[in-house]
Amino acid sequence: MTDLVAVIIPAGGSGERLGAKIPKALVQLAGKTLIEHAVANMAPVANQIIVAAPAGYEAEFQELLGTEVTVVTGGATRTLSVKLALEFVGKENHYILVHDAARALASTDLAMRVIDSLRAGERAVVPGLAVTDTIKRVDRDNYVTKTPTRAKLRAIQTPQGFTRKLLIKAHTSSDDVTDDAGLVEDRGVDVKVIAGEERAFKITTMSDLIDAERALIPEANSEMRVGIGTDTHAFSSNAARALWLAGLFWPNEVGVDGHSDGDVAAHAICDALFSAAGLGDLGSNFGTADPKYAGASGLQLLTECAERVSAAGFVINNVSVQIIGNRPKIGARRAEAIYVLSLALGGASVSVSATTTDGLGFTGEGRGISAIATALLLRSAR
Ligand code: CTP
Ligand code: MG
Repeated sequence: MTDLVAVIIPAGGSGERLGAKIPKALVQLAGKTLIEHAVANMAPVANQIIVAAPAGYEAEFQELLGTEVTVVTGGATRTLSVKLALEFVGKENHYILVHDAARALASTDLAMRVIDSLRAGERAVVPGLAVTDTIKRVDRDNYVTKTPTRAKLRAIQTPQGFTRKLLIKAHTSSDDVTDDAGLVEDRGVDVKVIAGEERAFKITTMSDLIDAERALIPEANSEMRVGIGTDTHAFSSNAARALWLAGLFWPNEVGVDGHSDGDVAAHAICDALFSAAGLGDLGSNFGTADPKYAGASGLQLLTECAERVSAAGFVINNVSVQIIGNRPKIGARRAEAIYVLSLALGGASVSVSATTTDGLGFTGEGRGISAIATALLLRSAR
């Protein structure tokens, strides 16, 4: 066979812009890590797959991806990670695709079309999409120096395909580039652009991750699960106790009693999420006996809860919480509350409302505060 394909997947980045505590390639997307998605999409066309992992994470990657995948230590830049992976490409492979773990949803079909074009005689092939924004070149002081004709511009994606010998030669350059085709162009070789695809977009920020989840679980073929949760706490007799509610600190308000920060809105949302996912409730997940959660804030619990729901294969469609009580007045800080709650839930859609109870009951008498929440989760129908 002279047309075997090796696929290099650089995954050595830290994912700073995504802001997760773990490398971006290990972040969950609808029940699987980004790198598992990328490998699964490329595996059908690959004779060999080489993944460049962040230093220190090699064993974890190998465990996750299995022995069929070669895991190597990545470098300080994407270019270096590709270079290091290149050393491991078997000589039996005539072609090499260079991909990105961050483009986890790029399809097998896209990889096949890149390979078809190589087999038809091209030496360098990249997927690209027409751009919809006008692109301007600027100088160091941000003055426009050129406006290229938009119709001639393409936004370039991966996987990018090359003949093995060409890519190895191109990588003898010491330039640091954001795409491998750039190195090939510098050598005067023709690079062919073929049609890219929307789903091959690069996951860079949290909002990209949510877009990816939506793309992966279109409503039409998803299972929907609704959940409900409530929580109540009594206002403290200790006037110095701080009030935390809906992820916010409320100065000049008396706090509530309880072993945690007593954020009834955050706790109700956690319960709604756990109930929708069938993962038990707040108590069974964050038992009061576990010292790890003794001092945890409502926001910390929400973050942990969202991670467990995601690991169980669910995507949060939306969360809605209603706060019931005389004080504090929520309206003026609604946007702030939505922002912090959504951030804790990885960018999920959140709504916050509030009501009083016409002087009736413990909330009406000003003795305590309650919250009731619903959550809607999506999961691919199996
Ligand atoms: N990459 C790599 N080695 C590096 C840096 C990046 O292999 N030293 C990989 C990333 O893992 C990713 C791809 O190159 O799959 C594209 O990079 P990018 O999307 O910028 O990912 P990160 O560098 O991880 O993200 P950030 O720039 O936000 O930190
Ligand atoms: Mg980067």
